[in-house]
Amino acid sequence: MKKVIPAVFVFIFATAFAIQQQPAGLKAAIARGKTVYENACLACHQQDGSGVPNMNPPLAKTKWVLGDKKALTKIILKGLQGGEIEIDGDTFHNPMPPQESVLNDQEIADVLTYVRNSFGNKASMVTMAEVKALRAKLK
Ligand code: HEC
Repeated sequence: MKKVIPAVFVFIFATAFAIQQQPAGLKAAIARGKTVYENACLACHQQDGSGVPNMNPPLAKTKWVLGDKKALTKIILKGLQGGEIEIDGDTFHNPMPPQESVLNDQEIADVLTYVRNSFGNKASMVTMAEVKALRAKLK
């Protein structure tokens, strides 16, 4: 018992520290993004982000999901077609539908923050300001 109590305190402090390290609003953005994902992405990319072979690519640890946020946001705004994505030798022949007239800036920021922090991914959040700026630039 004597050794267990200090260990419990260390765990509580470590957890509190880890939570404090997250940027403000990350948890809330992930929760909102999950709902957007379920409505706008899940049908193709699946609940666990594993995709469908030959049709829809997976979202786990891909260079698009974890890489440059602008390139990633552009895929969501403008969509993709023609099997441009190749992952482990597989290409995907469904079209990725553009979301620019379906989702607003906040929804795109939230869903990308969710995707970048789910399915084994861990990456910085995407903010509404970043989506807004890119949307204006791509007009
Ligand atoms: C109709 C099916 C469909 C829907 C709905 C859809 N996608 Fe896609 N997505 C695709 C396909 C197909 C590709 C690959 C297109 C290509 O290779 O030309 C793709 C590519 C991607 C990529 C880049 C490749 C990768 O796997 O990393 C990301 C990221 C992505 N989609 C995220 C999303 C998000 C987030 C949503 C919801 C807002 C969404 N998709 C909705 C079918 C879909």
